[in-house]
Amino acid sequence: MRTLHDIPELRARLAEWRGAGLHIALVPTMGNLHEGHVALVEAALARADRVVTTVFVNPLQFGPGEDLDAYPRTLAQDRARLAAAGNHLLFAPSEAAMYPRGRDGHTVVEVPGLSAELCGASRPGHFRGVSTVVAKLFNLVQPDLAVFGQKDYQQLMLIRRMAADLDMAIEILGLPTVREADGLAMSSRNGYLTAAERARAPALYHSLQRLAAAVAAGSEPATAEQDALQALLEAGFEPDYVSVRRREDLARPEAPDRALVVLAAACLGRARLIDNLEFERRGVTRASRQP
Ligand code: PAJ
Repeated sequence: MRTLHDIPELRARLAEWRGAGLHIALVPTMGNLHEGHVALVEAALARADRVVTTVFVNPLQFGPGEDLDAYPRTLAQDRARLAAAGNHLLFAPSEAAMYPRGRDGHTVVEVPGLSAELCGASRPGHFRGVSTVVAKLFNLVQPDLAVFGQKDYQQLMLIRRMAADLDMAIEILGLPTVREADGLAMSSRNGYLTAAERARAPALYHSLQRLAAAVAAGSEPATAEQDALQALLEAGFEPDYVSVRRREDLARPEAPDRALVVLAAACLGRARLIDNLEFERRGVTRASRQP
């Protein structure tokens, strides 16, 4: 597996592959790879001739006071993990390569609406940073396919919206969240948890499971959200939000909406954890479907 840090070298290698008619997949990451990331690489390998995985801790998506400096940088381990998985090319650019004119004043890509909701409400500018870097990576690699995790549900939706709005001819594949045996979604930020916090962390997923079961069985989303927030407080979290949304556009559900997702973000010690769970609401009656 080749590791490249420079854009001209990356473009040269990709031009060779494209010239040979190879189907190229991209897996963007911020590194500190775990099994969730590897699952994306494996899915990409199953669908494309060549897989490019990127490792770049994107400063544009971190707000002031967030964990940009603390974010784990483990490139040697990541390289070994990717090589073992059969990944073809690792692109790990420097900040200067990605933002040669600095962080401020760079052209940005903003997806309206979605960027301001949920995680966007508590992390202003976060999704602008995500859509900007992913647009750059899409332009650099020009993949046929790009693979993302449903763990970052709002991010996945944002990227799909960006690609559609900007006519990027890239297939976007979203894959299910890979979890630890106790249900905790794998995340690079789980490493911030103390042993005691780690033991409590699965409460986030469990509260989503309980909420989904309650709403599926007919409870009002608002009541179930309050119960979940209370359960998180009792488990020692500082919840940011627990919100039931409809899957198609992340709007608040209306009575006839059945395909739902619950999304949550909560801090536990130094870690800000996010998770989500898709579920179906119980069949609505004919009467409630009438306008
Ligand atoms: P990062 O958090 O490193 O995640 C990279 C990709 O791995 C994302 O698509 C994310 O949804 C996926 N992923 C993370 N944990 C996962 C899990 N437990 N199961 C399945 N997939 C998982 O997301 C980012 O980086 C950045 O915002 C990025 C898109 C790279 C832009 O900088």
